[in-house]
Amino acid sequence: MAVDLIVKNGTIVSPAATYRGHVLIKDGKVAEIMVRDDLPQAKEVIDAKGLYVLPGLIDPHVHFRVPGLDYKEDFDTGSQGAAAGGITTIIDMPNVVPPTANVEGFQAKVAAARNHAYVDYGIYAVIIEGNSDQILPLAEAGVVGYKIFLGETVGNIPAPQDGEIIDAWKIMAQTGLRCGVHAEDNGIILYLRKKLQDLGRKDPLAHLESRPSVSEAAAISRAILFAGEAKSKLMIFHMSSAEGVELVRRGKQDGVDVAGETGPHYLIMEGEDMVRMSLGSLLKVNPPVRSREHAEALWRGLLDGTIEVIGTDHAPHTPEEKMADDPMGDIWKAVAGWPGVETNVPLMLTQVNAGRMSLGRYVKVQAEGPARAWNLWPRKGNLGRGADGDITIVDLQKEGTIDKAKLHSKSKVTPFHGFHVKGMPVYTIIRGNVVMKNGELYGNPVGLLQKPIV
Ligand code: NCD
Ligand code: ZN
Repeated sequence: MAVDLIVKNGTIVSPAATYRGHVLIKDGKVAEIMVRDDLPQAKEVIDAKGLYVLPGLIDPHVHFRVPGLDYKEDFDTGSQGAAAGGITTIIDMPNVVPPTANVEGFQAKVAAARNHAYVDYGIYAVIIEGNSDQILPLAEAGVVGYKIFLGETVGNIPAPQDGEIIDAWKIMAQTGLRCGVHAEDNGIILYLRKKLQDLGRKDPLAHLESRPSVSEAAAISRAILFAGEAKSKLMIFHMSSAEGVELVRRGKQDGVDVAGETGPHYLIMEGEDMVRMSLGSLLKVNPPVRSREHAEALWRGLLDGTIEVIGTDHAPHTPEEKMADDPMGDIWKAVAGWPGVETNVPLMLTQVNAGRMSLGRYVKVQAEGPARAWNLWPRKGNLGRGADGDITIVDLQKEGTIDKAKLHSKSKVTPFHGFHVKGMPVYTIIRGNVVMKNGELYGNPVGLLQKPIV
């Protein structure tokens, strides 16, 4: 049997095992994993000696901003960042203009992404007041899941009333698809923001104080209650608090199908860094980055399986919107979020090198976890025979410095600028196509729409 591509001599990593072997890819799929060395003919061979061969890494939380906000990002630039950063599949968020709230909106996004995506992509739809009749048609059209913004954030897309959410989730339960929530309690955060503003506070930490952990916990506990009632699948996006981890842990014990996501900033950074490192508005994000105690609780959740997904919340904005020239200025005027899809893998591999988690656990939360949560498993998230030939090859010894100017995103703003990293992606391979080698991009936008397997 001749194959298209062999990645040979690498150390193959799955959550369950790490071993030397060769990955054979034919017609875009994993044909075989061989440990013997009598390899067949191949059109292309990559020698991965000294490198780690991971299933293609998935970022299930990016905002690529089309249609309507393409001055911040588009599918070309966003997905180039993904490919450069070792990500083979992304899932795109619906807070665009108009929001991805019906089949027409879904089709508009599909049209914008087609021939512009350098990596594979899934699409979320948003549930707002009055669009529950779109849940089944959207599932039919091919969304991988849904999102509800429980708390006010970028895009100002309000959640439906609680009763309507429960009804929506009952409909969703018929689809087998999951709904993720931006979990912040609107009542608490709007009240506190006004109170702090009335006091004249506009320093960076006022943003953190306006969105305390209890506001996340309140939203998570209600969401878990509603998902239990509706028997639907829930994801808590971008978890930031210790209370949240405990609630998700308990929800799972109570039999609710609730999964958790967190991002590198919540694990690595602290809210105080806004002041200590003068990051100010550069580190403004919803929900906010909190204290070290919260970060440690998130790490424990990640290691014990309470949190099964890392998503970057890649949220690009212009330097002006981010107040990049005046990060310690009026925090209320800065927009929340920054581009993260390209910096995530080096940042997390640096944590692996520091001993915070094994490479196998990282594969679990950046490949298997997202693929399972969003019904892309077993086509994505693993290197089993018949899976898509998506591979991220990483060099755990390679060191570098994060440089905002080198980001592929339109948004050259990141709180991680100047961070030293050890452990970097060196190849990104999508269905057998090498799209990145040593940081350089290759070829055409080969990315394809990924519909869920349900
Ligand atoms: C996100 C954005 O910019 O779209 N911003 C953020 O701070 N996380 C919106 C969101 O998910 O809250
Ligand atoms: Zn959000």
